[in-house]
Amino acid sequence: MSAKAKLRTFGRALPPVEFLSSAPDWQQARVGWIEAALQRARSLPDTGWVVVDASREVGTTPRRYRLDGTDYAVWRSPAGPRVAPDACPHMGASLSPGRVCEGELVCPWHGLRLGNAAHGSWRPLPVYDDGVLLWAALTTAHRDVGPVLPQRPERYLDAVMRKEARCDPEDVIANRLDPWHGVHFHPYSFARLKVVEQEEESIVVRVVYRVVGPYGVEVDARFHCPERNTIAMTILRGEGEGSVVETHATRIESGRAAIIEATLATSDRPQFWHFVRPLSWLLRPLVRKAADRLWRDDAAYAERRYALRSGSRASISRSTSSSVL
Ligand code: FES
Ligand SMILES: [Fe+2]
Repeated sequence: MSAKAKLRTFGRALPPVEFLSSAPDWQQARVGWIEAALQRARSLPDTGWVVVDASREVGTTPRRYRLDGTDYAVWRSPAGPRVAPDACPHMGASLSPGRVCEGELVCPWHGLRLGNAAHGSWRPLPVYDDGVLLWAALTTAHRDVGPVLPQRPERYLDAVMRKEARCDPEDVIANRLDPWHGVHFHPYSFARLKVVEQEEESIVVRVVYRVVGPYGVEVDARFHCPERNTIAMTILRGEGEGSVVETHATRIESGRAAIIEATLATSDRPQFWHFVRPLSWLLRPLVRKAADRLWRDDAAYAERRYALRSGSRASISRSTSSSVL
């Protein structure tokens, strides 16, 4: 019996729908559409807000994060998370190995205590804790507006995965704008993926997500970019309707990106809230593990895309130079 014949779906049945094409995926995959959708996302305003990490990862032990080429110390004070330059304004010590005392970061070299107030040119960045993710404003242009968030369900069980890759944020977004690779590149997660709607800025797929072995749930899911470094997948129909997977790409430095993916699972089934939600402590690591498994491959895809782009750029500039010469 073939693997396809063994596939069994459970959960809500979906209404029949016409697929846009029955051609092989490599023929359906529209490179031009992916590129145009990516460019549309890249042309959205740069708000200056970036995702740092899961909010719950930020505690009273400081950690260092590199954001757009600069190191920051990140810690939690009683008034909320803080993100500030990881260089002491006194003599430049790295602050992230320091300790937090009464919400202030204490420099490990000479004990200067730094809080939310500026100290010379040293000042904490504006931050926004959306309840799942911690954002920081690297530029001040839109600091009063706040980051652009995808539409989220009212109640959810959330899990966040963070991973780094040798690429730029646009390579991460480009990967998610290509649904056609799903069943080929991730056969352990997806089966039977077909595009059912395709517009300029979004794409809807009908896909079976494998839960265990040959058993999976079939859903209609929409991908779109609410801001330039975010792509959201929303379940429109099927089990878990309204659930969202947000993939955020934050530039660490040129050619290095952090992928921060938040899964916000919801359900209109009372059992979900009675039985599943109390087990969130158990389920959260499992969801994170599944996302991590998927992104092990997708990071390789994004890194490959980055390498191809970098190679192209080099050869274009070489050919330009030689034509000028
Ligand atoms: S370097 Fe931080 S207090 Fe001196
Ligand atoms: Fe993928």
